[in-house]
This record gives sequence, structure tokens and C-alpha cells, in this order.
Amino acid sequence: MMMSLERTFIAIKPDGVQRGLIGDIISRFETKGLKLVALKLLRVTDALAEQHYGEHKGKPFYEPLVAFITSGPIVAMVWEGRDAVAVCRQLNGATDPEKATPGTIRFDFGQIAQRNIVHGSDSVTSAEREIHLFFDDDEILDHWDRTVDPWILPL
Ligand code: RTP
Ligand code: MG
Repeated sequence: MMMSLERTFIAIKPDGVQRGLIGDIISRFETKGLKLVALKLLRVTDALAEQHYGEHKGKPFYEPLVAFITSGPIVAMVWEGRDAVAVCRQLNGATDPEKATPGTIRFDFGQIAQRNIVHGSDSVTSAEREIHLFFDDDEILDHWDRTVDPWILPL
């Protein structure tokens, strides 16, 4: 089977946590069949926000974005699966919830790009960088044996 087993970094942003959407959002990734390999609740510091969103420095939305992501707890996660980077971006939906498709997290739960509920890595390279910004190696359980796997990805 042609497949690329990937890991991606997903965060539930402060709006998702404050609005009580943690369970609903985790369910989207779980029910798709992706495998959770790391998870924690944390408060993003200014320094971590600057590292995570460094690529956007200088853009008009950068300062508000850093203020937003540091404004309350987030849930940081690593999900693993077939083409996980692209699959999770599809589950998240377009950056602006107004342009997102119904059934995506951002359409179903959000209304504006500045409060768009979730983050997802945009490439395998970004994913590796972001995973290591948020997690130590010993916090990632990437080889646990999930008994339903043969029902999701038969060999
Ligand atoms: P993310 O990194 O959060 O998964 O989102 P993304 O790839 O879809 O979008 P990106 O271009 O990386 O932008 C990062 C976050 O900045 C906020 N944003 N606001 N025009 C705006 O006001 C604007 N554009 C982007 C969003 O919260 C976006 O998720
Ligand atoms: Mg992005």
C-alpha cells in the first residue's frame, strides 16, 4: 500500500479550551483513526510563541496572534497516521472559518481567522520542528501498540 506514516503537531488554541471544545476536537482526530502519541495542557510563553510563529514575524496579524496564543492554556498534541500532516489540515479546515468547508473543525466551531480554534503543522518539516518545540522526546509515545490498528490500516 502506498502510504506515508507521518506525525503532526496539533494545538487546541486558547479559544477552543475556553469554550469547552477540547473533547469535541480530540474526537475529530480520534474518530478519523489517527493515533495520539503525545498530549499536554500548557500555557504558551512569549518566547515559545515567538519560536512557534517566527515565520509570521512582521505580518500585520503577528502581534495579535502572539497575544492570543499566550492568553490562556492550550492543548498540545502529536497525532500519527497515514499522511497525517495533510489529513489533519483537512480536518482543521481553511485558516479563515468563513472559507472553511462544513464538517471541518474551523467551520463547525469558529467564525473568524483570529479565533480559529486549532493549529496544524503545514509540512512534515514544520511538524518535526513544532513537535520538538513543545515536547521532550520522552513525552512522545510513538510506538504504543493500538489494538484496533488492523481495522483501520489493514496490511
Ligand atoms: P495554523 O498555523 O494556526 O494551523 O494556521 P494556518 O497554517 O492555516 O495559517 P497561517 O498562515 O500559518 O497563520 C497562522 C495563524 O495566524 C492567524 N491569522 N490571522 N488575516 C488574519 O487575521 C490572520 N491570518 C492568519 C490565524 O490564527 C492562523 O491560524
Ligand atoms: Mg500555519
